[in-house]
Amino acid sequence: GADTVPQAPEDPLFGLMAAFKNDQDPKKVDLGIGAYRDDNAKPWVLPVVKQADERLRADPELNHEYLPIAGLADFTSASQKLILGKSSPAVQEKRVISLQSVSGTGALHLGAGFLAKFYNPQNAEAKAIYVSSPTWANHNQIFANSKLPVKNYPYFSKQTKGLDFDGMTSTIQSAPEGSVVLLHACAHNPTGVDPTQDQWKKIAEIMKQKKHFPFFDCAYQGFASGSLSRDAWAINYFVEQGFELMIAQSYAKNFGLYGERAGCFHFVGAPSPSAQEEVTRVGSQLAILQRSEISNPPAYGARIASMILNDDQLFAQWEEDLRTMSGRIIEMRKSLQSKLEQRGTPGTWNHITDQIGMFSFTGLNEQQVQKLREKFHVYMTKNGRISMAGLNTNNVDYFAQAVDSVVRE
Ligand code: LMR
Repeated sequence: GADTVPQAPEDPLFGLMAAFKNDQDPKKVDLGIGAYRDDNAKPWVLPVVKQADERLRADPELNHEYLPIAGLADFTSASQKLILGKSSPAVQEKRVISLQSVSGTGALHLGAGFLAKFYNPQNAEAKAIYVSSPTWANHNQIFANSKLPVKNYPYFSKQTKGLDFDGMTSTIQSAPEGSVVLLHACAHNPTGVDPTQDQWKKIAEIMKQKKHFPFFDCAYQGFASGSLSRDAWAINYFVEQGFELMIAQSYAKNFGLYGERAGCFHFVGAPSPSAQEEVTRVGSQLAILQRSEISNPPAYGARIASMILNDDQLFAQWEEDLRTMSGRIIEMRKSLQSKLEQRGTPGTWNHITDQIGMFSFTGLNEQQVQKLREKFHVYMTKNGRISMAGLNTNNVDYFAQAVDSVVRE
């Protein structure tokens, strides 16, 4: 009976969100969840999304019928082009199978379920997924729930507050041949630290030599380099190198469609005469997994994304909106760094502007994070991550002052 069910801990991130909501102090600052906020700390509906939404609602043919199991075809094909490039040989050779998913989490889950069922490396020990340490907390439970053993590769250097490239590559090198490796395509969560293109090439070389299987998580395309295609560079490099791989693509952040759960899962086959036939079979199995878990994906967010992705004028407007978001985040990075440096806050703070994407891994420790919350009503995850988008021209000075105070204690 239910008397044997133990109490599970609250989700750290959603727990933080609730605690922030309950805090009545007017000075409170939310740097927890990775969701974009405008300069007034308010959620921001992208102007292009508003426009697409209005067009959609004005359509007299709009209904609430089921989508196909694999989702909206216009959406999945546009998603392939966005992530693999308009003239991708893999797409032209029909060796990509894509299913619309319940955002990035759903895509990861679909991939995990598929691997659990069908991944059969020669060495049974290789049936495990390596994730970066640290990584997005949900990765661990998504794979563990799918009965896929989770292992770690080092990623972050505490000394440089940058990439621990040697640690990362030596672990990937010594992993059993044919292991699955989860890679963040860009704007690594939680660290904001990405490999350089040369480092990606080296990672690909090792993975090829070890016959590892790449699984890319891409939740921040458009937030890292300022260009959608450059943010997909690593994925495309691996595809060019002939890897068979999987991609989880989220539209939560780059369209601001958080609650609509729009995303896509892609399986890319390696180039070979039988690739098309193989990915068709893969797709047939993915369809069964999808049907048994969600039956068919939610329509609304995908319709909005699809309209924007398939219309040149809306697409250009979207790129503009992305620049608005990433530009404001970069301004906040500069502002925070200079305010800490002006105060002479002990430590170095260049990593705040060196890191990219939605997050900064500040280097603050758990006690400091705790003090920030208790004394200053600042909410951030206990690993020292801040969502840069939670800072704005009204609170960045207050936050710098608070950090200064806890670092000096
Ligand atoms: C985050 O890491 O803050 C976001 O990806 C939100 C989430 O779902 O955890």
